[in-house]
Amino acid sequence: MNGWARCETKEIFYNGHYYNVTEFIKRHPGGEGIIDYFTAKAEDATVPIQQFHSRSIAKVHGIMKSLPRRPQTDADLLEVGDPQKRERNKALTEDFTKLFLELQADGLFEPSYFHVAHRILELFVLGAVGFYLTTQANSIIANGIGCIFLFFAQLRALGVMHEGGHLSLTGNPKVDRLLQTFTLGPFVGISPTYWRRYHSFHHAQTARVKYDLDFETVPLLLLNVKVLDDPKKQQNFIMRNQIFFAPFTVIVFVVYLQTWEWQEAS
Ligand code: HEM
Repeated sequence: MNGWARCETKEIFYNGHYYNVTEFIKRHPGGEGIIDYFTAKAEDATVPIQQFHSRSIAKVHGIMKSLPRRPQTDADLLEVGDPQKRERNKALTEDFTKLFLELQADGLFEPSYFHVAHRILELFVLGAVGFYLTTQANSIIANGIGCIFLFFAQLRALGVMHEGGHLSLTGNPKVDRLLQTFTLGPFVGISPTYWRRYHSFHHAQTARVKYDLDFETVPLLLLNVKVLDDPKKQQNFIMRNQIFFAPFTVIVFVVYLQTWEWQEAS
């Protein structure tokens, strides 16, 4: 799985306590890897857990109650490291929480059923027109226009599937998963469960090299030179002009990730 060292007991720091998740990790509905990130001593999982489970926090707290826990000690603090860095991180987290609460008070996280219905209807219309023109029309121009419709259907499906995958569409996690499956499967052709599992890594550790999986890409899809061992030598012609290789790159990327997932599972 992930590259860092595994210890016998795995603990997650949440709201002032360390919770023993050694056994729970294997049963976590969001996958094992993402919890593993937060078992390192210096990680505080409080805000990520609250954010990732905002629709199911009661369930999460119920499970946490059943887990063995212990308070943070001075010895833990010594292991956590640099107190100044900790204070900086704390200030950032407080800022983030303040912003989140303001946005929540403004109603930004309230689901809009009208918007969801409109987006789904739009997909049906774009998809149906595109499918009809590409398969039934006899003119090449109409076929081409059909392709454009299908392209936009796929593009717009990505937005719906992203929100559905993050369970932030309707307020009901089951319905969101269903909508994500409907939009990601037929429109984009990627496994919805796979996407949910691995895309969450990116949001849990955004832009953190060696943690954010969006950086762990094949060289053709280089998102940040920092992921290269030797940026000077490895930035070649293909990497500098990768925009022209986009369609090919996307295929390689998807195949690579699927193979990687298969390797992990086996
Ligand atoms: C001890 C700590 C944790 C507990 C008890 C826990 C519990 C759960 C539960 C009960 C669900 C299912 C929610 C539902 O029914 O909709 C879930 C899903 C999920 N959890 Fe956790 N979780 C923990 C830690 C984490 C952490 C640290 C992360 C990442 C920061 C995370 C990310 C997710 C994600 C992304 C899902 C959604 C999976 C999906 O719908 O495919 N969890 N977790």
